[in-house]
Amino acid sequence: MTDEPRHFLEIDDVSTDELGAILDRADEYKRAQHNGEAHEDLDGQTLGMIFQKPSTRTRVSFETGMTQLGGHAVFLGEDDIQLGRGEPLKDTSRTLSRYVDAVMARVFKHENAEVLAEYATVPVVNGLTDDAHPCQTLADLQTIRELEGGFDGVSAAWVGDGNNVAQSFAVGCALTDIDLTVATPEGYGIDDAVVERARELGGNLAVTNDPVEAATDADVIYTDVWISMGQEDERDVRMQAFEGFQVNSELLSYAPDASVMHCLPAHRGEEVTDAVVESDQSVVFDQAENRLHAQKALLSWLLE
Ligand code: CP
Ligand code: NVA
Repeated sequence: MTDEPRHFLEIDDVSTDELGAILDRADEYKRAQHNGEAHEDLDGQTLGMIFQKPSTRTRVSFETGMTQLGGHAVFLGEDDIQLGRGEPLKDTSRTLSRYVDAVMARVFKHENAEVLAEYATVPVVNGLTDDAHPCQTLADLQTIRELEGGFDGVSAAWVGDGNNVAQSFAVGCALTDIDLTVATPEGYGIDDAVVERARELGGNLAVTNDPVEAATDADVIYTDVWISMGQEDERDVRMQAFEGFQVNSELLSYAPDASVMHCLPAHRGEEVTDAVVESDQSVVFDQAENRLHAQKALLSWLLE
């Protein structure tokens, strides 16, 4: 590849128009896959997938997606490659770039995804860092558009931890003009820089410490785990801090028509109840399915 590759480390690495085009393509891939129509747009292409953290959805949706597009994916667990024995990321990145057509990386520090992108000569896609999960946001936006028929006038609430998923979702809402209220305990909000970025993009983003205020009359209520991968040592402190931030039937009584979203895996009894995950309001498996379609769209868009 001679031109500088496009990377996808943050949801706003694409413009609103580009995001719309990717989501349109995701809908088209979903239709084609459901109808059993061939869509081998990445025939002969290979995706390298670096994982420093576990994964069910990201791993399987990327790998399956590449197969459906006529390509191939290689799973590269940190301890299965020389990265785990100290080979620098910049060397890993340049080496992989000589073999594969794109790299997907799930790493701890967001800066490590940036290093991979800096040295890669092929597109690098963020499969989750401590700060951002833009592929999740793509699927979430596809899901909301399906449910609501568009983004106009949609109001969303985030309830719980202002984590990686929340941060990308907040910026994604700004790009699509979804009104968002984020309710987190004091000290667990999304980063100030992310709030600023979302507002600079024109986002109508409010922050509060009151879950009821956020949830009332929302079209969408979104939550995620209170203890993200890598935060296991903070368990006791976090369990206390997030008391009152559970998405349960009582909270849903303030938004009886809301769709409940969760990126999964869900920790039932913590951030969400089993009854809510299993209720008719839950769209969590639609979100999970759309990871497949949205990422296929992203990869074929990045590689064309
Ligand atoms: N939502 C999500 O990224 O799930 P996995 O951790 O299973 O990939
Ligand atoms: N916030 C969670 C998301 C998992 C998909 C984590 O980082 O562990």
